Amino acid sequence: MSLELLTIARRVAVQAGELAKQRRYEGVEVAASKSSPVDIVTEADRETERLIRSLLADARPDDGFFGEESDASSSTSGLHWIVDPIDGTVNFLYGIPHYAVSIAVVEGEPDPLTWRALAACVVNPASGEVFTATEGGGSFVGDMPLQVAEPVELSQALVATGFAYDSEMRGRQGAIAAQLLPEVRDIRRLGTASLDLCFVASGRLNAYFERTLSPWDHAAGALIAREAGARVSGLNGEAPSKRFIIAAEPSVADRLEARLIELGV
Ligand code: IPD
Ligand code: CA
Ligand code: CA
Repeated sequence: MSLELLTIARRVAVQAGELAKQRRYEGVEVAASKSSPVDIVTEADRETERLIRSLLADARPDDGFFGEESDASSSTSGLHWIVDPIDGTVNFLYGIPHYAVSIAVVEGEPDPLTWRALAACVVNPASGEVFTATEGGGSFVGDMPLQVAEPVELSQALVATGFAYDSEMRGRQGAIAAQLLPEVRDIRRLGTASLDLCFVASGRLNAYFERTLSPWDHAAGALIAREAGARVSGLNGEAPSKRFIIAAEPSVADRLEARLIELGV
């Protein structure tokens, strides 16, 4: 079942990635701002979500849909598709080749505190990388299995994070990052949460943490990182949520989470 769902997720994500890449090539403009003046949406975000939604409705008419750019629809099958049509929209707008289409299918309601992720695909159209996972089936980039990096001390850890669109929250996040920076190898702010999680899965980052993510930002990447051996969770073993997400090799996650709690995350 999960493999059939993955086949659909991959086909739809790749096709949506081709559309986003074409729109990027043609030129991109801001269509509107959302929660704050720097939280923007382009026509390509909306068009890509419309395409994903119609392809999923054709393939899986009984499943629910929960995406960033349109209203949710309920499920009669018990499954929901969690979709970020373009994750990393600011990179997309500026032409930085690091954005993604993120699609996951979950059992249960579209709530990360209770859902069970079954299959996931994250595509970076600019690099051509296709990350996938199924529950219990491991995770892959293309056909290559993924494995998190070996354990390291925090002083050797390359850590990614992200910042909210809300200016006051950003200030607080920046203060914590400033205190952490002297204690780790370095910090990255790559701008695409789904790819941050895939990079933890690939061993390209030792750890990733963020506050204020929405369900569509992490639904697919969390399964991909977990299936590569990462601990992906919220604070104190909770499920990841808007409050907090951390992903890393388990002993690195333990050390980083403990330090972040001391720093008041
Ligand atoms: C954003 C990106 C970014 C993260 C933000 C997200 P969007 O998603 O994933 O890396 O730091 O919290 O909102 O707005 O580009 O879809
Ligand atoms: Ca996003
Ligand atoms: Ca988005």
